[in-house]
Amino acid sequence: MNRTDDDEVLTLRWVAPDDVDPDYAGERDLRWRVLRVPLGMGRGTEVNAAEERCLHLVARDGERRVVGCVIFRVDPGATGQLMQMAVEPALQGQGVGRVLVAELERRVRADGVGEITLHAREVAVGFYERLGYAVYGDPFTEVSIPHRHMRKVLEARPA
Ligand SMILES: CC(C)(COP(=O)(O)OP(=O)(O)OC[C@H]1O[C@@H](n2cnc3c(N)ncnc32)[C@H](O)[C@@H]1OP(=O)(O)O)[C@@H](O)C(=O)NCCC(=O)NCCS
Repeated sequence: MNRTDDDEVLTLRWVAPDDVDPDYAGERDLRWRVLRVPLGMGRGTEVNAAEERCLHLVARDGERRVVGCVIFRVDPGATGQLMQMAVEPALQGQGVGRVLVAELERRVRADGVGEITLHAREVAVGFYERLGYAVYGDPFTEVSIPHRHMRKVLEARPA
C-alpha cells in the first residue's frame, strides 16, 4: 500500500484480461487514453496480439479507479517483455510507476524470469533508467514515435 501526494490510498491488483474482471475495462481505458489518444489512434488499438497471455497489473486509487497499469508478456527462455506502462496524467511523477514496476519484478522473478526487456518511448527512457534498466541496440520507431530497446537482469533472490 502506498500513498499519493493527495494522500489517497493506492492498491495494486493483478487483473484477468476478460469481460468478467471489473478492472480490465479500466485498464484498457487508461492504456488507450494515455498511450494512444495522444498519437491520434482509435479505441481498440491498445490491445496487443498477446493480450490474453500477458500478466496485467493495475494500481487503483482510494475510489477503486484504475490510475496506473503495466502488462508483461512471458517469453520462452526465462525472459519477457514489459509493455504499455501508463499512469493517469494527474498522478504522474508521484511514484505510481515505480511501485508498479517493483511489484511486476517481484512477481516475475518469483515465477523464474531472469531478464525483462521493453520498448521504451524515447521520452520515458529516463524513467526506466532510474529503475535499473539499460539501453541497448539501435533506436527504432514504433507507433510512429522514437523508441529504444531496454533491459534489466533480475538478481536471483534467496527463497
Ligand atoms: C512514464 C510513466 C509510466 C512513469 O510513471 P510515473 O508514476 O510518472 O513515474 P514515477 O513517479 O514512479 O517516477 C520514478 C522516477 O522516475 C522519474 N521519471 C518519471 N518519469 C520520467 C521521465 N519521463 N523521464 C525521466 N525520468 C522520469 C521520476 O522523477 C522518479 O525519479 P526519482 O528516482 O528521482 O524519484 C508515466 O509518467 C506515464 O504514464 N507517462 C506517459 C506514458 C508513457 O510514456 N509510458 C511509457 C511507455 S514506454
